[in-house]
Amino acid sequence: MRDELVDVTRRALKLRAENTTDLADAERLEPAAHYTDPDRFARERELVLAAPQLVGYSSELPEPGTYAVKDVMGTPVLLTRAKDGKVRAFHNICRHRQAPIATGCGAAQRLACPYHSWTYDLTGQVVGVPGDEGFTPQRSTETRLPELPAEDYAGFLWVSLDASRELDVAAHLGELGPQLAAWDFGAWHPVGEKRLDAHINWKLALDTFAENYHFATVHSTTFATVAHSNCTVFDSFGRHHRLVFPLRAIDEIVDVPESDWAPLDRVVVIYAIYPNIVLSVTAVNGEIFRVYPGTAAGESTTYHQNAWRFPLDSDDARASAEAVFDYAHHTVRDEDYALAARLQANLETGLSPHLVFGRNEPGLQHRHAVITHALGEPQP
Ligand code: FES
Ligand SMILES: [Fe+2]
Repeated sequence: MRDELVDVTRRALKLRAENTTDLADAERLEPAAHYTDPDRFARERELVLAAPQLVGYSSELPEPGTYAVKDVMGTPVLLTRAKDGKVRAFHNICRHRQAPIATGCGAAQRLACPYHSWTYDLTGQVVGVPGDEGFTPQRSTETRLPELPAEDYAGFLWVSLDASRELDVAAHLGELGPQLAAWDFGAWHPVGEKRLDAHINWKLALDTFAENYHFATVHSTTFATVAHSNCTVFDSFGRHHRLVFPLRAIDEIVDVPESDWAPLDRVVVIYAIYPNIVLSVTAVNGEIFRVYPGTAAGESTTYHQNAWRFPLDSDDARASAEAVFDYAHHTVRDEDYALAARLQANLETGLSPHLVFGRNEPGLQHRHAVITHALGEPQP
């Protein structure tokens, strides 16, 4: 991982020296309808539903006997790590009368439904039915929660929302898999999860993470005080891509030998994991943004999570981690998403037929080309 980071830092310094950024071959004109058309939206929603879903950090289930609950595009998912250490996923729906079985996350060998206290072990088996004479005997011995395919891979928890679909995260990530695994995110420390409902198309939400051309303007008093604008190292890995954003502090190492570099003091690494995940890595944390299509083309829901690289073993450590998390969250909500909602309103007027993705916005181009290709549609 260090060699890789030194390499991208060297490339970022070269871009800085030449006052440029990695460039795509040509501009791309993206139809505005791709953000507003209900039919396109319905096809995209199916595409996201069918994809392997990264739903959190492996460390949210830190040991056998732990569970966590997730909302994934309206599907309530219960994740467990049972005694055998294996990660499993289920619908978080009681087999009695459909109450949610668990909330939040925690440690337990058994989960009791809050309604009538049917209890489940962490393999999804019903192990207790109070007043069981009210039910046929098989009800308490043969009832299991329907299981969804789940994996613990490259430091993250993955599920398939379609039980009939095989989950192969290694194949999904391809050459990006070993690189993600090398960060060892599974050993980082989850800080929390925040939800952001926005009146913006899900891809417009993702677009806000796909270039730093807007830093000097949108983030003039926040990110731009520490990071350069319109200077990005870009690499694609199949359907995924990686952006490296140089910090202002990169200019201090022009004459420092590479062997003395601490690259993460000089750059931020942003992964776009197909189709709807952003992973942002700094020297101190790894944030994920799980961006989901909402109930209409102009609606989306983002779950923002943060994991701290260092143990959260003191009040000071926790306060630092939470301050960084809050700062990033407020910046995304109040600067990026607030402006994106105004773009969405303009897109919905239908007055302007397309958006222009510049040569300096290869991340945007890549994401939209990949989604268009996956839908079997011609590129604009
Ligand atoms: S709904 Fe769960 S025990 Fe009744
Ligand atoms: Fe931004």
